[in-house]
Amino acid sequence: MESTNQSLKPITTKINESGNLEIGGCDLVDLAEKYGTPLYVIDEATLRSICADYKHAFASYNKVNMMFASKSLCTMATSAILAQEGFGFDVVSSGEIYTVYKAGADMSKVLFNGNNKSIDELTLALEVGVGRISVDNFLELALLDQIAKSQNKIVDILLRITPGIECHTHEYIQTGHLDSKFGFDLTQIDEAVDLILNDYTNLKLHGLHAHIGSQIFETKVYHDEIEILVKELARLDEKFGLKLDEINIGGGLGVKYTEKDVPPSTFEIAQVIINSLNESIKKYGIEPPALFLEPGRSIISTSGTTLYTIGSSKQVPHGKKYVAIDGGMSDNPRPSMYQAEYSAEIANKKENAALQTVTIAGRFCESGDILIKDIELTEPLRGDILCVYNTGAYNYSMASNYNRVQKPQMVIVNNSKSDIIVSRETLEDLISHDIVPDRLK
Ligand code: LLP
Repeated sequence: MESTNQSLKPITTKINESGNLEIGGCDLVDLAEKYGTPLYVIDEATLRSICADYKHAFASYNKVNMMFASKSLCTMATSAILAQEGFGFDVVSSGEIYTVYKAGADMSKVLFNGNNKSIDELTLALEVGVGRISVDNFLELALLDQIAKSQNKIVDILLRITPGIECHTHEYIQTGHLDSKFGFDLTQIDEAVDLILNDYTNLKLHGLHAHIGSQIFETKVYHDEIEILVKELARLDEKFGLKLDEINIGGGLGVKYTEKDVPPSTFEIAQVIINSLNESIKKYGIEPPALFLEPGRSIISTSGTTLYTIGSSKQVPHGKKYVAIDGGMSDNPRPSMYQAEYSAEIANKKENAALQTVTIAGRFCESGDILIKDIELTEPLRGDILCVYNTGAYNYSMASNYNRVQKPQMVIVNNSKSDIIVSRETLEDLISHDIVPDRLK
């Protein structure tokens, strides 16, 4: 069965009666005119559809805590939708904790991750009642126990471990390989457990956590990861008499950025995960643990589209034709950071226009600011609206104000209605944190 992460475009995308592209029943040219560009557009139906896919896919395993990795997109409105869908959240900073808290998340389903959490962040996490903290290193164990003791609290934790699995994705988004900055090495787990049991008495260990990488298309890596986690649970039981009953396998499922990407469906990945879990439980003779998942990209990416307006074009003699848009690396840094590829179309009706191969250049002062290389489009002209698909994940969340350009606004569309969920920054916003000391005036 197919799932929404395998779709290149939001599931409501179509060409409407005016000949323009529409998403969520909203004409994209009208959206661009009404709200201005660049504009992030989130399709609510696509987001809810992938949530349903995930829930159906894992329904046969009865202890699942489905958490959305907020780092992929963290806004109040999208967090509220995910909370309504019954999802918890994987958060990595006070900013993410505060956003999901304000959006009404059930904080007991929230897990705090990160390799260098500050005292302030850990304190906030305890204050708002975050359900689990995934502890990354020895310093954090000591700090967290100290804070817990000072507040007279027992804190529920997982240990983040490095399972030693390499997945085939971009080097910068691999995380589970042996020489990684995240988590305890397998050889350090016993020392950490020993400390928790004997010294850090305000920490209660529930299980183990790993994450192997992002934009993953292989399923076997999940099998290998689960085997390692379950084997460790059994070993810790034997060595310490410790009955751990939770494993968190992280996120990572890929999406379809271009036609050549073929990610597995949530159903396929769930089958591999549940079968591997059952197999390992039997092999190592442990009780079925609760399963925590923390997908980000595969939940939010497909529901997001970015609209740009086309400006100047330049035909380099004997070279490429560059078509410039009014956004680029500050609203989507992924092509320049990871050589990420995207698909796009012209959203407005084009009659009898021929196809052209062009390169979409961003507006930022950097030659690496190229959004899409060599894409075939119906002859792009000044004023046309370019619609770039699959920008829901790691676009707004990684956006910057490079060149002092305001971040775009974000709208959500559904049933022919559109609502702003993140307003556009103003010029005043850009200078609102600047201070000129008196002596410089
Ligand atoms: N859990 C942990 C511990 C993670 O580090 C991550 C992502 C996730 C879950 C969610 O992974 P996902 O399901 O989204 O693949 N900025 C990069 C991606 C960085 C991913 C970092 N960790 C990009 O734009 O491709």
